[in-house]
Amino acid sequence: MDRIKLGVLYGGTSIENEISKRSRDNIILSLDDEKYDITLYAIPKNGDKGWIKEFINNPPDIVLSALHGGKGENGTIQGFLHTLGIKYIGSKVLSSALCMDKYISKKILRQAKIQVPGDILVKKGEDPKVYTEELNELTYPVIAKPNRGGSSIGIAVCENMSSLELACKNIFDQYDDDVIIEKFISGSEVNCSVMETENDIEVLAVLDVRKEGAVFDFDDKYSAVQSIGSITTLPIFMQDMIKSIAKKAFKALRCRGYACVDMIVSAENIYVIEVNTLPGLTVNSLIPFGASSLGMSFGDFLDKLIEFELKEK
Ligand SMILES: Nc1ncnc2c1ncn2[C@@H]1O[C@H](COP(=O)(O)OP(=O)(O)O)[C@@H](O)[C@H]1O
Ligand SMILES: [Mg+2]
Repeated sequence: MDRIKLGVLYGGTSIENEISKRSRDNIILSLDDEKYDITLYAIPKNGDKGWIKEFINNPPDIVLSALHGGKGENGTIQGFLHTLGIKYIGSKVLSSALCMDKYISKKILRQAKIQVPGDILVKKGEDPKVYTEELNELTYPVIAKPNRGGSSIGIAVCENMSSLELACKNIFDQYDDDVIIEKFISGSEVNCSVMETENDIEVLAVLDVRKEGAVFDFDDKYSAVQSIGSITTLPIFMQDMIKSIAKKAFKALRCRGYACVDMIVSAENIYVIEVNTLPGLTVNSLIPFGASSLGMSFGDFLDKLIEFELKEK
């Protein structure tokens, strides 16, 4: 049987460029050479478009993207592949764009009766003081995040208006983004990944997420020498609720293939924080661990996704 021509995109212009290389390494390590003829396409940080010519002249059968954040995750690359008529694993244009915008995606989740933290959107350049009334309703502490960010970059927990003003200014200046301010939910953090197969939407194991401080930050995510998640110790009825919320969120946001749902459990309330359509796939990331806990290697997981997408019209 001919090998499947698989194109792996990695790098990219976003701030998560280096993480993408780690995802690429884990993908290469996990896939079977006898099954796949892999071509790597490096998208340079400076946005140089040299890779496109080679890609278009000799297109792969299917693309597996190791890109994270920015144009790799927000529907832009997905639209490019779609225009070229090249199949790719994972969420398509609409879903990618929706999930990348934390504020908009939460509106959809709310409408689907999924619990999410209360929020306010502060547009780039706006003074957060304009929202004093709303903030008083939300009550401190709050958390300020780049609305289209990732990897916990630029996030700050704020106890008052002056720290919030600083956090907003930092996000506007450093990350050129709007700020989503949310009620800070204290509780334990869990994650549940969703995987779509031909007839069903399945979930991987519910994982407790290891965080050192109040927030699951960049160092927690990428400096770990072991998996950043472990099988949850929450009672089964909570796990079942988490799994069904993860599936519901996946469907509400029109995700495809796979996605990783970040959640916080506070008493018996389960809040969805965000849905990631191109989550980290590094050796210590949550998806490989979630898959292995079901007896599936990361390679098996990718095989299934590739098989699923190749079959779809
Ligand atoms: N409303 C919130 N309350 C408490 N912690 C939060 C909240 N939102 C985010 N966090 C913390 O910040 C981390 C990153 O936030 P998230 O929205 O997932 O953004 P990113 O896209 O950067 O991963 C979360 O994993 C969690 O630890
Ligand atoms: Mg997250």
